[in-house]
Amino acid sequence: MKIQEMQDEIRRLKKEQDVCILVHAYQSHDLWEIADYIGDSFGLAEQAVNAPQKNIIMCGVRFMAETVKLLSPDKNVILPKSGAGCPMAEQFSVADIERLKEENPGYSVVAYINTTASLKTVCDVCVTSASAVKIVRAMDADKIIFIPDCNLGDWVSKQVPEKEIKVLQGGCPRHAAVTVEDVKRAKNEHPDALLLVHPECKPEVVGRADYIGSTTGIMSYAKESEAKEFIIGTENSIVQHLQFEQPDKQFYELSRDLICNDMRLTTLGDVYKCLTDNTGERISLPDDVMEKAKICIDEMLRLG
Ligand code: 13P
Ligand code: SF4
Repeated sequence: MKIQEMQDEIRRLKKEQDVCILVHAYQSHDLWEIADYIGDSFGLAEQAVNAPQKNIIMCGVRFMAETVKLLSPDKNVILPKSGAGCPMAEQFSVADIERLKEENPGYSVVAYINTTASLKTVCDVCVTSASAVKIVRAMDADKIIFIPDCNLGDWVSKQVPEKEIKVLQGGCPRHAAVTVEDVKRAKNEHPDALLLVHPECKPEVVGRADYIGSTTGIMSYAKESEAKEFIIGTENSIVQHLQFEQPDKQFYELSRDLICNDMRLTTLGDVYKCLTDNTGERISLPDDVMEKAKICIDEMLRLG
């Protein structure tokens, strides 16, 4: 079947089966074209709340599908490829965080949304890269432990110096692998380009950026800017999406290695099979996880 035929069939079937297709911005362009909504983690979380459909196919990674399920417990939430995880989301266990809380009485635990649902059960509030600064600022607590991404935590602590923020040594293996050498090389090759960077990158990389923000933040900035050239410091799919949407501007990769294998796992064929053969994993979480992890997400929506 040709790509376009498959896309048309997906559009027809999703209407017939009352399915909403949510697509994270790191997914491929053929998936963007069949999406009801494309966004960063925060946008998808909000969209999940408002989607009128009974069924949701979440093209992204597991923690995103779990977040959708937490927000929409009565909906069927399908993750097309059950192997699509996020290495950062599983870096700490519930026992690790419980121990940390015991060792640090009086601290509130802020969890990046890139965490498993069970880890969220022992945290106080969730944040996304788009909402982290606003939420940490708005919290009553002044003493905070930020998990699991030390780079995002470091960036937040610089924006909110009035609070004491402890970070743990975790993070995204892809973004954290970008070096200052990558920045120097890209700037040498493209001296007129602006550098737009995700806060999951190391502080020394973030510190050299012209703009720091979430995936959609980076995309909106590039769209609205009058500059003509941009070096993109996040997953390389964003370089392709931006180039496709804005052919009059030039977009360059900050590092050839900024590729998230988990985000690349889901294909158009997988979504098609979800609709024709009921494949994919139906997300189901234990009742106590649903209840406790939801508190952490609700707090994010309240403060954000
Ligand atoms: P965003 O919140 O910017 O979508 O980031 C999600 C993610 O996985 C980044 O690596
Ligand atoms: Fe996780 Fe990094 Fe992939 Fe985002 S890019 S899903 S943080 S591994």
